[in-house]
Amino acid sequence: MGELDGRITIITGAGRGIGFGIAERLCKAGAEVIVAEVNPETGQRAVKALTEAGYKAWFHEVDVRKPDSVENLVKAVVDRYGRIDILINNAGLAKIGPSETFPLEDWYLQIDVMYNGVFLCMQAVGRVMLQQGKGVILNISSIGGLGAWPMRQAYNSAKAGVISLTENIGCEWARRGVRVVSVAPGVTRTDMLQQMVDEGIATLTKYNDRTPMGRVGEVDEIAKVVQFLVSDRASYITATTVTVDGGWVAWGNLPV
Ligand SMILES: NC(=O)c1ccc[n+]([C@@H]2O[C@H](COP(=O)([O-])OP(=O)(O)OC[C@H]3O[C@@H](n4cnc5c(N)ncnc54)[C@H](O)[C@@H]3O)[C@@H](O)[C@H]2O)c1
Repeated sequence: MGELDGRITIITGAGRGIGFGIAERLCKAGAEVIVAEVNPETGQRAVKALTEAGYKAWFHEVDVRKPDSVENLVKAVVDRYGRIDILINNAGLAKIGPSETFPLEDWYLQIDVMYNGVFLCMQAVGRVMLQQGKGVILNISSIGGLGAWPMRQAYNSAKAGVISLTENIGCEWARRGVRVVSVAPGVTRTDMLQQMVDEGIATLTKYNDRTPMGRVGEVDEIAKVVQFLVSDRASYITATTVTVDGGWVAWGNLPV
């Protein structure tokens, strides 16, 4: 028996990267996962990989920026299962650049996906969970939400907002059976990171050196903390953020 046996779990942005890694982990623990992705190609590929490994997963296209799209997702899951046990708000993207010339479309896009989108999903799924009197919502923040990092104004503001949403709504729903937690990963080896390296925005050596542990994180190192937090083992944890960063935030401003 897995500790998440039969738990109906929505993971946004689970087509690849950290979201897919979380899907694999939670499936392995017995959860049934809805890969809620804006990109049908990666979403369907993820589901194929999961089902071929013997897990229970299906794809639902969603754009977390759009209230109707989020409502459709929630309706489809409730129609099929009659309940939602776990929501992971993971969808994201990173665009960086100088604030004085930062394109407004990139500002709105990041705030829409990683802040407004998180609230829309929390609200729509939260209504179902509150009625059940039970549920867990886990939001993926970032070390970017915990401190300054030039050129990442929109990304970091959205991620700081996620920490605040987790605290505020976590406290609001704490006596109604719904736990809300957040994980702030450090730099993690995913396609998003590789894209930034390819575009010359990031170098792996710099990130490795900046991390007290001397290396970036692996997806499963994030996913296994997520598994713990959404499981009953974390029954007394709510309205807080767990940092999984190899020591990055603690390092502060000291030179490498
Ligand atoms: N990789 C890192 O170093 C790192 C560090 C800290 C936090 N994070 C956070 O972890 C999460 C996952 O990051 P990743 O590195 O796996 O990124 P990724 O780009 O590999 O995956 C993100 C997924 O989100 C999906 N997505 C984007 N916009 C969406 C939308 N509007 N609706 C639904 N899905 C959408 C994408 O299609 C993609 O599949 C993000 O929230 C990111 O900010 C990543």
